[in-house]
Amino acid sequence: GLVNTKEMFAKAVHGGYAIPAFNFNNMEQLQAIIKAAAETKSPVILQVSKGARNYANGTLLRYMAQGAVEYAKSLGWEHPQIVLHLDHGDTFETCKDCIDNGFSSVMIDGSHLPYEENVALTKKVVDYAHQFDVTVEGELGVLAGVEDEVSSDHHTYTDPAEVIDFVTRTGCDSLAISIGTSHGAYKFTPAQCTRDEKTGLLVPPPLAFDVLEAVEEKLPDFPIVLHGSSSVPQEYVKIIDENGGKLPDAIGIPEEQLRKAAAMDVCKINIDSDSRLAMTAAVRKVLAEKPAEFDPRKYLGPARDEMEKLYKHKIINVLGSDGKA
Ligand code: G3H
Ligand code: 13P
Ligand code: ZN
Ligand code: NA
Repeated sequence: GLVNTKEMFAKAVHGGYAIPAFNFNNMEQLQAIIKAAAETKSPVILQVSKGARNYANGTLLRYMAQGAVEYAKSLGWEHPQIVLHLDHGDTFETCKDCIDNGFSSVMIDGSHLPYEENVALTKKVVDYAHQFDVTVEGELGVLAGVEDEVSSDHHTYTDPAEVIDFVTRTGCDSLAISIGTSHGAYKFTPAQCTRDEKTGLLVPPPLAFDVLEAVEEKLPDFPIVLHGSSSVPQEYVKIIDENGGKLPDAIGIPEEQLRKAAAMDVCKINIDSDSRLAMTAAVRKVLAEKPAEFDPRKYLGPARDEMEKLYKHKIINVLGSDGKA
């Protein structure tokens, strides 16, 4: 069946790699994630957001994830390590509902709350979750942009001075931190970037690795999580823009920096936007090239193939989790 994150994080933190956490909202994304994980033998975290539960129905997503374990076995993956995780749980009740309904891991995102309230809420979720062997991700620090329906125009980096107290008092199993990543396809404005003379491409400012290092010093070998870690592949942006789309100045986190984070104590890296871009690029391309096509399988099939390619690339070339399950 589904597993929690405990063992896979312990191995990842010591092995210098990170587990992919891919969001899913539909069958094609799920199939692509499972095929990529099965073929690379990578542990994988299936993430479901509140928006995903509203869109696709939480019960349906839960049974799809459970079915995915059998699907993985049918692909020749003998011992699939698949987590079903609630992404950005906003209240105790949302987390409880998921814990009571088959999720093996949850996030309680109290990062926008005053510190003591974040501690109390996270501890409440942990105390409930651990009775059922469900692991819990907490968060300290605020990402710029929209997170959990709360939006901020600037990053509030995680304060390393708080992390020991937070982890000890809440008992959380992993900690999401803010070091300059953000959600969506517009992680930096052009004004925040420099321009590469040779390629003409925008180069975003580096992540705050000093903050990550300070957190690691306080919490040696503790599983750290990075949200907002899509790299916004420019080849997808180009295909989308050339086929009727409009994503001006979309920009993400350079993969080189994610590779560096994965080699450190970061052991869960969240990627959603890149999969959306892969899917949209493939669908736009098919529909533009074959205007007479109206069988959804003819455009969702190529979209699924493109997402699978993307997931494999992340697993093998960025996170380094291939061959670990
Ligand atoms: O945290 C953001 C994830 O990408 C989920 O996005 O809330 O639109 O499903 P969503
Ligand atoms: P991206 O928007 O960078 O893919 O981040 C996804 C995420 O953090 C989900 O929780
Ligand atoms: Zn997130
Ligand atoms: Na790591």
